[in-house]
Amino acid sequence: MEKIAIITSGGDCPGMNAAIRSIVRTCLYYGITPYGVESGYKGLIEGRMEELKSANVANSIHKGGTFLRSARSEEFHTEEGQKKALKNIEKNGIEGLIVIGGDGSLTGANVLFTKYGVPVVGLPGSIDNDIYGTDLSIGVDSALNTIVKSIDMLNDTASSHDRTFLIEVMGRRCGYLAVTAAITVGAEAVLIPEVKYDLEAIIEKIRKRYTAGKSRSIVLVAEGVGSAYDFGKAFALIGGFDTRITVLGHLQRGGSPTYFDRVLASRLGMEAVKQMKSGQYGVMMGLHNSAVVPVPLNVVLSNKKALDPYLLEIADVLS
Ligand code: F6P
Repeated sequence: MEKIAIITSGGDCPGMNAAIRSIVRTCLYYGITPYGVESGYKGLIEGRMEELKSANVANSIHKGGTFLRSARSEEFHTEEGQKKALKNIEKNGIEGLIVIGGDGSLTGANVLFTKYGVPVVGLPGSIDNDIYGTDLSIGVDSALNTIVKSIDMLNDTASSHDRTFLIEVMGRRCGYLAVTAAITVGAEAVLIPEVKYDLEAIIEKIRKRYTAGKSRSIVLVAEGVGSAYDFGKAFALIGGFDTRITVLGHLQRGGSPTYFDRVLASRLGMEAVKQMKSGQYGVMMGLHNSAVVPVPLNVVLSNKKALDPYLLEIADVLS
């Protein structure tokens, strides 16, 4: 294998640059020429790719976002778009494609592999931690550190005013960020898409805590379960609490990757190149019990990552 191209696609996450750097440097170590595709599948369709030298990834491991840029491409969902992408892969002599992204991006990689025979290896990159086949995805740890730091600050002002804060975090289909954040900030309650909630029971619990002398309440809301503004209105109306809302939004996707994400991205990137060299394609490199392992893309994409009920238990018991 002489030429490998790299794509970052879908929602960006801290650690993508560290993964690109790792792939580039590992490729060069093995005498492979790495190419960077700009703006995900959109750039692949438009033929926007360039050779990457070692210097292109210098001073990048600590930077958030993705210097290759990312996009969500509608055109790639069409056969016409896919064929344009394939043409550019062939025209540039690309023999393997490493895709860093979430479920949608990995689905695109699987289409290129199964339908057109392109050798692909995927890396899980998404702050949501909703990708099956890996204990953690690149970006999750950084996003959680940002969330926890932000909520610690909100906690200060909430305590000064005996307020109830509803804090909305990302996670369209998955409550991982909300539940793990709830554990680490000592939230009173957490609302996530995977679990049915009883609003009146939560409000009653908060009321009792105030009566027992608690100076503030924190409720984590995963965006997939509904808007924190709507829940906030109910908390103020039914509970009569002095309620405030904070939506953390895209803050969670930015910033310098943590030590953990830098190491994870470096490991996954290196193993992705080794996987390409081994000739076993159509897989995603995942983290399983601290080891990096290849997981077939069809397994990744046909399974839903379940939220560990133990995390919910911890959040509930300690709240
Ligand atoms: O999938 C990652 C994610 O950050 C989700 O948590 C969020 O709902 C979505 O992307 C936001 O997407 P966009 O940046 O396109 O608004």
